[in-house]
Amino acid sequence: MNAASGSTPTQQLNAPEWVKHEGMKKWVAKIAALTQPDRIEWCDGSQEEYDRLCEQMVQAGTLRRLNPAKRPNSYLAWSAPSDVARVEGRTFICSEKEEDAGPTNNWLAPDEMRRILDGLFAGCMRGRTMYVIAFSMGPLGSPIAHIGVEISDSPYVVANMRIMTRMGRKVYDVLGKDGTFVPCVHSVGKPLSPGEADVPWPCSDTKYIVHYPESREIWSFGSGYGGNALLGKKCLALRIASNMGRDQGWMAEHMLVLGVTSPRGKKMHVAAAFPSACGKTNFAMLIPPASLPGWKVTTIGDDIAWIKPGSDGRLYAINPEAGYFGVAPGTNEKTNYNCMASLRENVIFTNVALTDDGDVWWEGMGPAPAHCIDWQGNDWTPESGRKAAHPNARFTVAAVQNPAIDPEWDNPAGVPLDAFIFGGRRSDTVPLVTEARNWVEGVYMAATLGSETTAAAVGAQGVVRRDPFAMLPFCGYNMGSYFAHWLKLGKLLQEKKAPVPSIFCVNWFQTDENGKFIWPGFGENMRILKWMLERIEGSAQGTENLFGVSPRYQDITWDGLDFGLDKFAHVTSIDPAAWRKELGLHAELFDKLKGRLPTELSRLQANLVARLGE
Ligand code: GTP
Ligand code: SPV
Ligand code: MN
Repeated sequence: MNAASGSTPTQQLNAPEWVKHEGMKKWVAKIAALTQPDRIEWCDGSQEEYDRLCEQMVQAGTLRRLNPAKRPNSYLAWSAPSDVARVEGRTFICSEKEEDAGPTNNWLAPDEMRRILDGLFAGCMRGRTMYVIAFSMGPLGSPIAHIGVEISDSPYVVANMRIMTRMGRKVYDVLGKDGTFVPCVHSVGKPLSPGEADVPWPCSDTKYIVHYPESREIWSFGSGYGGNALLGKKCLALRIASNMGRDQGWMAEHMLVLGVTSPRGKKMHVAAAFPSACGKTNFAMLIPPASLPGWKVTTIGDDIAWIKPGSDGRLYAINPEAGYFGVAPGTNEKTNYNCMASLRENVIFTNVALTDDGDVWWEGMGPAPAHCIDWQGNDWTPESGRKAAHPNARFTVAAVQNPAIDPEWDNPAGVPLDAFIFGGRRSDTVPLVTEARNWVEGVYMAATLGSETTAAAVGAQGVVRRDPFAMLPFCGYNMGSYFAHWLKLGKLLQEKKAPVPSIFCVNWFQTDENGKFIWPGFGENMRILKWMLERIEGSAQGTENLFGVSPRYQDITWDGLDFGLDKFAHVTSIDPAAWRKELGLHAELFDKLKGRLPTELSRLQANLVARLGE
């Protein structure tokens, strides 16, 4: 069947009886007429469907089935070497006015972009199956959830979306005849001519990740990888949702959310924004060291938080996702036991190495095998001088497999937040931890966050850039207006006399003269988290500095850890020369955003410069 050939394409839609939404059928028909797939499949989200598509991908060479004795029900995908990470340079916010996308986003006029995409999408699914993937971000039927429907020509996307979201037939029950959904169109951009053999990882050199914030639409062309292709994640739950949040008084953030219970049984909730590949998954699954008995961390989410004011005035956070698409390299039983335990079965690995016994390996997992096949399919030995796994290699796994999952992770009401943490990857300058003295100071810290770029995005790596709120690649509107939204929210909390979450800034990543991390990180981060929670309760001391409050050596619990005063001084001291330079970089960002920068932030900046002196 060629969906484009009929004049009444809805008859060729192949829609099952459980799809009752006529508007959606019309839209699917329209996209089919444009993209001309061979067939249309409406995904029901069943295990049978997942297994069938995985088997089909094994046959096509897209997936390898891992050794069932080692890694039951698990698969390995190797992408095209040109399609390994998000493409920020090809990501666009096409608002009506350029000013509304702001200086930190790529922009093209919607009309112009639609002309380009109409050309690219015309016939782009020839020779392929078009999958219709209905998904819910947030618990099904919850008043805070949002539904999206992704049309994709990639079975890999279907399988991943089933793990990452609540997907399939149950979503249609919620959508009914006329429910609202965010339309998401995705193509790998590689049509097949009659008889043409497919490649294991089809994609295109031409890539566009496009958002129309006013009409709340997403169009993605040319990539099958991660945030470029699993459109519920960064595209919907961050870029489109940040627009919804601005209009409706809530926030969509690049944050993990965790619960932390003290030895006395008091539970608090923390949301933390670290840029891509800077430790969110790790922190969300943290296991406190044995020398801090009685502390317990549970995971609500590892990447995205939707945060809304509750009727009691407090801020409540939910995790809109249902799975983790996490960084594999660096993960092992010591650094993140809970993560490794989550990965024992039912996993899709992408771009890690294949061992000779049919299991997976990556740098930092444990001792290197004497031989394996690297992520590009080549023989690899420890002597080969290359990485066996791509630095942005990832796993896709259901959240429920995490042994540290919080009992409230799925609660539509969310969890009340006690603190926000912001942190970048900085080899120098930024101290281990600082507490903001008030909301505006905290917003300033978050707004001026800097971080060294990682393999999560295509481009230069290890370069310090400003990544405000860890949202640089994900804020779907003008960054200056986004700062204003945060300030407004703080004012609202104060007006309602609701407890205002404390704001902290952290940096786990300072290095010594040999480039080695000074702070042990991972589970030991509990010591810093403990200090933060005790600050909130009012029981811990600290000392005021230029930027806020930081702990003295004696304010941190050191039992069971050999971390001397000299090292502590190194990671907590503030070097005036480095900070003069740093404040210069803040000023550069503010200058770039000056059209919509809230005056509170530029005033604070001027104060800091004056306080630091010549
Ligand atoms: P995205 O999924 O890209 O948004 O990333 P993420 O923030 O969830 O990153 P993740 O937790 O997966 O961490 C990425 C890398 O940071 C891994 O290689 C970890 O080993 C490393 N990492 C995490 N926590 C720490 C830490 O406390 N110290 C050090 N030195 N490295 C860490
Ligand atoms: C990130 O880059 O922040 C991720 C991975 O969480 S991706 O879904 O590919 O964007
Ligand atoms: Mn992320």
